Amino acid sequence: MVIERTPLEDELGDVLEKAMRCACFGEVTLGARAGVSPEKIRDAFDYRYDFTLEEIRRLADVLGLNEVGVAALASGHYPLPKIGGLPFCLYPLRTPHGIGVANAYIVTDCGSERGVLFDTGSDGEALRRAWPPGIRGLDAIFLTHPETEHVGGLADVQRRFGPVPVFGPVGVRIPGVLALAEGAKMKPGSVEIETLATPGHAESHNCYMVRAPDLWAAHSVLVSGDILFAGSVGGAYFCSEKLKVHVKRLLELPPETVVAPGHGPLTTIKNERTFNPFVF
Ligand SMILES: [Fe+2]
Repeated sequence: MVIERTPLEDELGDVLEKAMRCACFGEVTLGARAGVSPEKIRDAFDYRYDFTLEEIRRLADVLGLNEVGVAALASGHYPLPKIGGLPFCLYPLRTPHGIGVANAYIVTDCGSERGVLFDTGSDGEALRRAWPPGIRGLDAIFLTHPETEHVGGLADVQRRFGPVPVFGPVGVRIPGVLALAEGAKMKPGSVEIETLATPGHAESHNCYMVRAPDLWAAHSVLVSGDILFAGSVGGAYFCSEKLKVHVKRLLELPPETVVAPGHGPLTTIKNERTFNPFVF
């Protein structure tokens, strides 16, 4: 059982900025439509919140956001679920990146010295510091998308562990990475990994469902990269419509699915369906 202490990736101001970018609103337009002063909205970008509940409701309404989640972020108490019931061990590896933190993950049979690595952190040294001491071998590496904070440690991991197959999204331009398209299934070690092609944040982006194939009733893990976070979504740097489509699709996965995002704490589909501001 894990109770997360890692901060959320996005605060209320970040969520408003992302939603405004998707809606093509500036703070003047948003303020006029929601009856909120643009100065208050600008303050929120600087992490100073002074909205009334009624203003939160109107901002959420104009931006098409889930009011419950926006209010939770505004209160500073976004709910996070207890994480448990997985048929394997899941290690979050947190690596600093600028003022933020990027997550890589290892999935392994509990007690085994081998595992599967998802993303490789911001750089090799940072990943080494977060590495679980009991893991001495890798069966495969899966990349969600080729941004530095998610693939920066790849060369170092390859030096440490030798020839390990590396998989990533179609279109990724990293030498030696094998492309996995929508629906591709792999079984490195004892887990089954299904590919979900999810462009939107980046043109080349995959999420991965991780299951124990012999235990279909057990909970699964969704490695969600920069599509779905606890309390937010990734920036729509490639295509906001595609990002929306894939966020919606991920939120339709079984509710008990544990979400392992590229930034911020672990969560579940059930939790995000209820509270995430971007329930479209
Ligand atoms: Fe990222």
